[in-house]
Amino acid sequence: MNLYKKIIKPILFKQDPEYVHNRFTRIGVFLGNYLFLKRIIKLLFYFENKKRLGQNLFGIDFKNPIGLSAGFDYNIQLTKVLGDIGFAFMSGGTVTYNFYEGNKKPRLARLPKSKSLLVNKGFKSFGIKKVLDNVSFTSYNSAKVGISIGATNSPLICDPEAQVKDILKSFKYLMQNEKKDNFSYFELNISCPNVAGSGVLTDQDVLDNLLSEIRKIIGKKVLFVKFQAEIEWGEARELVKIMINHNVDAIIVANLLKKKTNYNFEKEEIQKIIDNDWKGNFSGKPVEKFSNDLIGKIYKEFGDRIKIIGVGGIFSAEDVYLKIKLGASLVQLITGMIFEGPQLIGKINKDLVKLLEKDGFENISEAVGSFWDNKINSEINI
Ligand SMILES: Cc1cc2nc3c(=O)[nH]c(=O)nc-3n(C[C@H](O)[C@H](O)[C@H](O)COP(=O)(O)O)c2cc1C
Repeated sequence: MNLYKKIIKPILFKQDPEYVHNRFTRIGVFLGNYLFLKRIIKLLFYFENKKRLGQNLFGIDFKNPIGLSAGFDYNIQLTKVLGDIGFAFMSGGTVTYNFYEGNKKPRLARLPKSKSLLVNKGFKSFGIKKVLDNVSFTSYNSAKVGISIGATNSPLICDPEAQVKDILKSFKYLMQNEKKDNFSYFELNISCPNVAGSGVLTDQDVLDNLLSEIRKIIGKKVLFVKFQAEIEWGEARELVKIMINHNVDAIIVANLLKKKTNYNFEKEEIQKIIDNDWKGNFSGKPVEKFSNDLIGKIYKEFGDRIKIIGVGGIFSAEDVYLKIKLGASLVQLITGMIFEGPQLIGKINKDLVKLLEKDGFENISEAVGSFWDNKINSEINI
């Protein structure tokens, strides 16, 4: 029996989502501090098959393709426990240079029938100094830890010029900090829609300048860029070219969705959000189609020059497998875990092995982009 879905979730889903999240974070921090508790969690949740699921990308060993997406562990407090439930990597943050208390409540709402969350956190953050002071790491079964950086959410940091300055301050601070080498990768978030100003740095010149300055600061450190979901392909293509010019190692596709007209929403649920004039953007299943569409387009045109990390609406191994076949080398998730429970990561990894075996792939890297090989096209429906 799925204990989480049958017993725990019905209780949790009656409570305020942000309260539940904060409680879970506190429990996770506690569990991560004790080796014997970590071992118990590992026993309950963990699944490993490095032969089929392991990959070395950007010089990093990923024991499987599943990562935690930015926004769940926004002050990077869960580094010591996420590896034990099965994540191969985790993006902590998004962290900003200054402290921000978060947008006006409600900052989170559930749309269970649409398998989505309304998110209005707006880069709630302790600020980079406190995050780095507090963060600690473990050598026992750790997920690879990355740090996502975005511009401080403030009415004073609204225009792209101010946002660029603010982001660069964070990268400089990070590189001067002794903990910088504990992070396997850095992630630039140019795509959060919940912040003052546009929050989306998609002007080509701005991005070009920003990436050039970041490279000067971080040198050859592994760099990912988190992309938005709703973007016209012509515009996206030019931005991807700029990323490739600056040796961005991977593009993360994609962030939250703004559109309330998406056919994937259950009508009554979305109407309630509109009637209450709740602010925010959407995660989960409604993002999936946008994400998969972009993954395919980026892979077909640039797959030999930049890696893709697929995010959006992952609730099962089949969802992951589709993203991999479309061209993603790795994936990330949040909403699926909130709806299905922490055992989802181990289950996805276990089921993925079966899917790979069925299609005759020795290792997951062989399946990347295989959607575009004619032989198995017919099985997939994007
Ligand atoms: C509660 C919550 C907070 C989020 N905060 C951030 C964030 O700070 N930075 C970011 O890049 N993405 C953030 N996201 C977006 C996710 O990283 C992810 O791109 C999106 O939710 C789609 O994945 P999912 O369907 O698996 O949740 C957030 C998502 C959720 C659900």
